[in-house]
Amino acid sequence: MKKTAVAPSNIAFIKYWGKKDEVLRLPENGNISMNLSGLETTTTVEFITSYKEDSIEINGIVESNEKNRAIDHLDRVRAIARIQDKAKVVTKNNFPTGTGLSSSASGFAALTVAASKAAGLTLSEKELSILARQGSGSACRSIPSGITEWLDGETSDTSFAVSLYPPEYWDLCDVVAIVSVGRKDISSTSGHKLTATSPFFEMRRFHMKEKISLCKTFLADKNFPAFGELIEAEALELHAIMLTSTPSLIYWTPGTLRIMKLCKVWRNEGIPVYFTINTGQDIHLICEKPTVELLKKKLAEIEEVKNIIVNTSAPGAHLIDHHLF
Ligand code: PMV
Repeated sequence: MKKTAVAPSNIAFIKYWGKKDEVLRLPENGNISMNLSGLETTTTVEFITSYKEDSIEINGIVESNEKNRAIDHLDRVRAIARIQDKAKVVTKNNFPTGTGLSSSASGFAALTVAASKAAGLTLSEKELSILARQGSGSACRSIPSGITEWLDGETSDTSFAVSLYPPEYWDLCDVVAIVSVGRKDISSTSGHKLTATSPFFEMRRFHMKEKISLCKTFLADKNFPAFGELIEAEALELHAIMLTSTPSLIYWTPGTLRIMKLCKVWRNEGIPVYFTINTGQDIHLICEKPTVELLKKKLAEIEEVKNIIVNTSAPGAHLIDHHLF
């Protein structure tokens, strides 16, 4: 059976950084994100009895690192479905891979939905989220729809994401400024392992529950200024932990920093916009829909900005009928 799924990437408002369990990918803290309408992975999977090994093509090429992680994920699906067949997998992103736009989130969410269905399984949203999490933590948040929360469970069965609000709930937008197309030097997988080496990590652990609860209150109230201040401070805290890890992780480039500073200038001019950044140089500008056009104009004037991708809140991973092979 050949099956194809599309999954969105997501942007975390409250971040997942560090793991309580390395193998199961249980996060140090619960976290909250929004699925992104303009950053998608499409994946087709077919299990083929005559295949001697898995064949995995990502954006037209076979990448050995990703390939191993993808095969590990296929093994998880095969174990649940009790099948041995090898698979053909073809996957495509409509955005640059490995630059901090969470291609692993959309990638593993799409692989989970397509592979499980192709293996003959019918899994619930919760089961899909648990499975996706084991491929890449943030992928579990790309399974449910809209704004999602990855619950702070202590076991694999209690660590999954749920939808807090559907896409149409609030016209929040994420205007991504691509400031470099190069791949980041250090993957999130390696970065997570360094979290505990930062002297600020204990402080972060201490107040995460409160942050989650504040974020949920501001979302419920659609209180954009309070929400924006909180998520920008959260991004800076994440990067404070990264900068003070051993070895230190520095993801920003001059373009990233320029836009971070401009964001404050724009706010002083009365433009309601806040930034957030993941493990990469690209910067996500969070605003409400009426601000998007003005922001695009401002970004287009900045030399370092190579591309601008406007996202609204999107549905979670789902099957489609159009196959890639
Ligand atoms: O899911 P991973 O291993 O790619 O880690 C994601 C880490 C951050 O993007 C920095 C934060 C997050 O919650 O998405």
